[in-house]
Amino acid sequence: MNNYTITIVNYKIDITSPSKVSLLNILNRSGMNIPSYCAGRGVCGKCKVRFIDPIPTPTKAEEKLLSNKEIQNGIRLACQHFVNSNISLELSEKFDFDIFIKVNQNHRRKSNTLGIAVDLGTTTIYMRAIDLESRDWLFEAMSLNPLIMFGADVVSRMTWIIEKNKGAFFSRQLFGKISSILVSGISKLNYRPQIRKMVIVGNNPMMHLLLNLDISKLAFAPYESPYLHKPTRFDSKKYGFDENFEIFIPPSIGGFIGSDFSAVLYFLEDSLFHKRGAVIDLGTNGEMGIWNKNGVFVTSTAAGPAFEGMKIAHGMVAIDGAIESFKINNTFHIKTVGNTKPKGICGSGLIDILSEFLKNNFIHKNGRINSKFSDENDRILIFDDPTDPIYLYQKDIREIQLSKAAISAALRVLSEESGITLDNIEDFFLAGNFGNTMNIENAVTVGLLPKIKKERFKLIGNAALKGAVKFCLDERSGIDFLKNIDERLKHVRLENDEKFIETFVEMMKF
Ligand code: FES
Repeated sequence: MNNYTITIVNYKIDITSPSKVSLLNILNRSGMNIPSYCAGRGVCGKCKVRFIDPIPTPTKAEEKLLSNKEIQNGIRLACQHFVNSNISLELSEKFDFDIFIKVNQNHRRKSNTLGIAVDLGTTTIYMRAIDLESRDWLFEAMSLNPLIMFGADVVSRMTWIIEKNKGAFFSRQLFGKISSILVSGISKLNYRPQIRKMVIVGNNPMMHLLLNLDISKLAFAPYESPYLHKPTRFDSKKYGFDENFEIFIPPSIGGFIGSDFSAVLYFLEDSLFHKRGAVIDLGTNGEMGIWNKNGVFVTSTAAGPAFEGMKIAHGMVAIDGAIESFKINNTFHIKTVGNTKPKGICGSGLIDILSEFLKNNFIHKNGRINSKFSDENDRILIFDDPTDPIYLYQKDIREIQLSKAAISAALRVLSEESGITLDNIEDFFLAGNFGNTMNIENAVTVGLLPKIKKERFKLIGNAALKGAVKFCLDERSGIDFLKNIDERLKHVRLENDEKFIETFVEMMKF
């Protein structure tokens, strides 16, 4: 078999590829993580690359999904082409991810001054704009993190930075994306506001990438960086925004636990310490805390992006067309976001599917698909469609097992370290971007959540973003709050923790 060279001209990278391999697969295997919502079926149109030499003839899918201008410019879909020669291409820094915007038509406009809250997640970036006088929100926006091209998890991205010296480039990409989300959101308002401040929260690796800080101490033992422990402020002009305003980053907690979790705790300010409580912020970097009146124990674990629809063959984020709930009652009953034709499966849909499959013996306790229900490709058909069928693959189930095992093992260790048993938790807060649609009983069935009374769980949505809004509105009391709880905060570290590793293996089973 011949080997060919794929040259990514604008990153000055050569990748060696065997022939007859999908270009999308080889780029992703090399750590590029090209966006693909349809897992290479040629229906989402997301896996765009620019061919420089040779430029292949467009396929039918490309003629349907790309504009004439794009086709003329050499843009093609990576999933549509196999490697059968040396290829030069460009992964354009300008290729944009969709930005989803929701405008609050009922907001009370009391001023022109806006506060902007940003939750910089490993997989997605969320933004909310607030009228600083009326305190109403004006728009909310969401887009994928542009760095998912360089690995779905933060560890891959840290490796890229350290090995390939891409710090400045990553920082530009992130600020460029935040800026374009902001511009898109503001363009939906019918007046020109003045931005007074922006609060950005995120896990520690992402914030290091954003500010191009030395990440080496975070990437390797002692997994602790000297940066971001204090409130950080700087001028927007420094990072290429047209307007002049202050950017504020609340203090981080330490290790991988960043200002996003500080924001979650600030959001839960009134609930901490009164009762025995817990919170899980379900994201690619899963952060969690457990508390009683004496203190808060916090930790984080690499949960992976499965519950955000990534690394799942037909996974997608929770936008229109995503299967968000699923039930088996003689046949499969599917509900999608926006009640449109199913295009893929988002996190809450995955939990429902797995739970129903476990209850109906489609999959065994060890995660293996019952061969009675799978086809020769080790997958189960979820939605039948002549052109765009949706399947759940065996490897998807493994990804979900890894994620749920990481979260549940971290929670178990946190409970043991704190001495607060999970049965005794009175308020269990679930934060995250699919927190509002999750079926709690199904999440318990798959082992993501502990078996406690259903009514004790409280879905609180994107609490990091809500905490960032609170910082926007009252930064001083946020800083004081964090100072006050500092002595009662205990960071439980799971890196190299044997108990965590043992529990993780145990939790892999359903
Ligand atoms: S069109 Fe290529 S991955 Fe969806």
